Amino acid sequence: MDLLKFLVQFSVFTIFSAVLANGQKEKDPKIVIIGAGLSGMAAATKLMDNGFNNIVVLEAENRIGGRIHSVNFSNGFIDLGAQWVHGVKNNVVYEINNGTYKFGVTGFDDKLPLFLQSNAIPVSQYKCENFAFLALENLFSNYNEMSQFNGSIGEFIIGKFKNSSFYQIPEDQELGDEMIDFYDKEMNIWNGSETWFDLSAKLHCVSGFNEGLQYLTWKRDGYKEFFKYLTKQVPTDGTNKTLNVMSKVYLNQEVTNIEWNISTSNYKYAIVTVNDQKKYYADHVIVTIPLGVLKARHESLFTPDLPNKLKRAIDGMGYGNIGKIFLEYDMPFWPNDTEWVGYGFLWTKYDIAAVKGTNKEWLLDLQMFIKVDKFPNVIEALLAGPHMRTFENLSSDVIMHDCVWLFQKFLGVILPRPKSMIKTSWLTSKNFLGSYSYFSMKTAEYNVTSNDLAETLFTPTKKPQIKFAGEHTDPAYSSNAHGAVNSGFRAAQEIIDYYS
Ligand SMILES: Cc1cc2nc3c(=O)[nH]c(=O)nc-3n(C[C@H](O)[C@H](O)[C@H](O)COP(=O)(O)OP(=O)(O)OC[C@H]3O[C@@H](n4cnc5c(N)ncnc54)[C@H](O)[C@@H]3O)c2cc1C
Ligand SMILES: *[C@@H]1O[C@H](CO)[C@@H](O)[C@H](O)[C@H]1NC(C)=O
Ligand SMILES: *[C@@H]1O[C@H](CO)[C@@H](O)[C@H](O)[C@H]1NC(C)=O
Ligand SMILES: *[C@@H]1O[C@H](CO)[C@@H](O)[C@H](O)[C@H]1NC(C)=O
Ligand SMILES: *[C@@H]1O[C@H](CO)[C@@H](O)[C@H](O)[C@H]1NC(C)=O
Ligand SMILES: *[C@@H]1O[C@H](CO)[C@@H](O)[C@H](O)[C@H]1NC(C)=O
Ligand SMILES: *[C@@H]1O[C@H](CO)[C@@H](O)[C@H](O)[C@H]1NC(C)=O
Ligand SMILES: *[C@@H]1O[C@H](CO)[C@@H](O)[C@H](O)[C@H]1NC(C)=O
Ligand SMILES: *[C@@H]1O[C@H](CO)[C@@H](O)[C@H](O)[C@H]1NC(C)=O
Ligand SMILES: *[C@@H]1O[C@H](CO)[C@@H](O)[C@H](O)[C@H]1NC(C)=O
Repeated sequence: MDLLKFLVQFSVFTIFSAVLANGQKEKDPKIVIIGAGLSGMAAATKLMDNGFNNIVVLEAENRIGGRIHSVNFSNGFIDLGAQWVHGVKNNVVYEINNGTYKFGVTGFDDKLPLFLQSNAIPVSQYKCENFAFLALENLFSNYNEMSQFNGSIGEFIIGKFKNSSFYQIPEDQELGDEMIDFYDKEMNIWNGSETWFDLSAKLHCVSGFNEGLQYLTWKRDGYKEFFKYLTKQVPTDGTNKTLNVMSKVYLNQEVTNIEWNISTSNYKYAIVTVNDQKKYYADHVIVTIPLGVLKARHESLFTPDLPNKLKRAIDGMGYGNIGKIFLEYDMPFWPNDTEWVGYGFLWTKYDIAAVKGTNKEWLLDLQMFIKVDKFPNVIEALLAGPHMRTFENLSSDVIMHDCVWLFQKFLGVILPRPKSMIKTSWLTSKNFLGSYSYFSMKTAEYNVTSNDLAETLFTPTKKPQIKFAGEHTDPAYSSNAHGAVNSGFRAAQEIIDYYS
């Protein structure tokens, strides 16, 4: 036995007074949860609520929340990460509040943006709407046909556009192409892809759907407000029971290795190494590290290597990025009425060619500027596509300057610079490396599912030692906040079941 192994054994003995024989279960098992995002905090809450107290939550960042990141802007909290509660029915985020929180509502469910063209020539909203309804009808209500289609969403929708009666009118074909481009970006924003040719049409149809309004907001509180309810800082079940899950969280703890299935300790403990130094011994480890980080670092993160089936699932599932920009103005220049929900940007072929190769090319990824519920002085851009790395690297100054240029180009008027701005950088953030998972063409080719990512690694003594959770592991609502919460509850429940 080498010195390290000896020390491990030794400290194990000092931490736990009695070492139980092979296969026997601990009375108060030590559980390490990696990541203090929604899934990690959901798992910690459920475990504590069921009497498990020997828990640590290790978080690499200097804050909890993960892809929930509400920041103070324009004197309230705006969200750089998840922003909307998508649907009500069977949505754990909605239900957990049990009516305690009154959500804000938006007009996005039944209103289209005001479409603008890059040549600033007014475009027929009616014609745009015809194309838009065609896209939406096929994206939402044509699952019978789409689920049989082996190609991408891009191919599927372009087929529908080109076959439509609107597209047969020669003078409207160019507008049709601009709308195709617009819905490419729409789907990339939904799913975090770079192009809709990488979104599997048939897998698009396997996700669950939560009925009800799709864009509920946390008003000026930000999505961070949800943690109060999720972690039972405030009771929502009619009792006075509260928990202190925060007391289990350790920040600035980057897990650099997880050693599992260690036979020298009779497979008892996994060893979680933090910042290449500190070691935690665990009966169970719940890994909620984002899929993008697993893709990039699973080889150094796990000793021994993960099983091939799991590595294949990590490789096969898609994971990409979206971006947001929030601009604050003293005086809003956009319409102040309930009918207006945002500007949709349609680039003409000529202007696409002209902007390509210039330092403003990244603006081709910017699909819309939308209004922000309860923030009258703020306008928000949504972006996705091949220019995200460039976008994340731009300075605030350049972003504001380029946005003013964009407004001038599409609205035909010169506007003042915004007062302040804030933008996202998920792709270039070490602990995220993107925004969320999606079903790519490779996912379909490899025949992998989110369930394949929700693996449990057992020791030969049948102990469920490593469990995976996180947005990407939820079978029904992957990529969504409520999927992340469900996945954390599921992982915790499996540990609870093992001891009952
Ligand atoms: C821009 C954006 C917009 C979104 N919009 C919506 C929306 O409107 N509605 C919706 O429902 N969902 C939305 N989502 C998705 C939602 O935010 C996520 O699905 C959810 O928050 C993911 O939770 P998680 O626990 O799986 O992962 P995370 O929140 O990412 O938690 C994982 C944690 O692990 C930490 N970590 C990573 N590596 C290590 C390590 N080595 N050691 C220790 N800790 C580590 C990370 O720092 C992170 O805190 C959005 C996401 C983004 C990025
Ligand atoms: C945001 O920050 C400002 C300035 O630091 C502060 O005055 C204000 O109270 C903060 N707003 C909120 C909602 O916390
Ligand atoms: C789609 O792929 C499946 C399996 O590869 C095949 O059985 C089916 O015929 C294909 N469908 C079409 C329309 O090509
Ligand atoms: C194209 O349109 C025609 C007539 O509307 C329809 O019969 C046909 O099924 C459509 N094809 C596709 C691929 O949608
Ligand atoms: C895109 O995201 C939506 C909403 O989360 C989901 O229903 C759909 O399955 C996703 N599609 C793909 C191809 O990933
Ligand atoms: C919601 O609250 C009511 C009382 O306030 C309680 O009876 C009920 O059990 C709660 N539901 C949930 C899901 O917590
Ligand atoms: C754990 O290690 C043993 C050998 O010590 C090996 O037989 C077994 O396959 C390993 N388990 C996993 C899940 O890799
Ligand atoms: C927008 O309109 C509402 C009501 O019509 C009004 O109360 C509000 O002050 C207006 N906001 C701005 C910024 O003009
Ligand atoms: C990011 O910016 C730096 C300096 O501003 C530059 O050196 C680097 O090449 C940029 N990277 C990308 C991907 O644009
Ligand atoms: C895909 O995997 C599922 C199990 O997850 C299996 O039932 C199915 O047969 C597989 N399909 C193909 C085409 O291999």
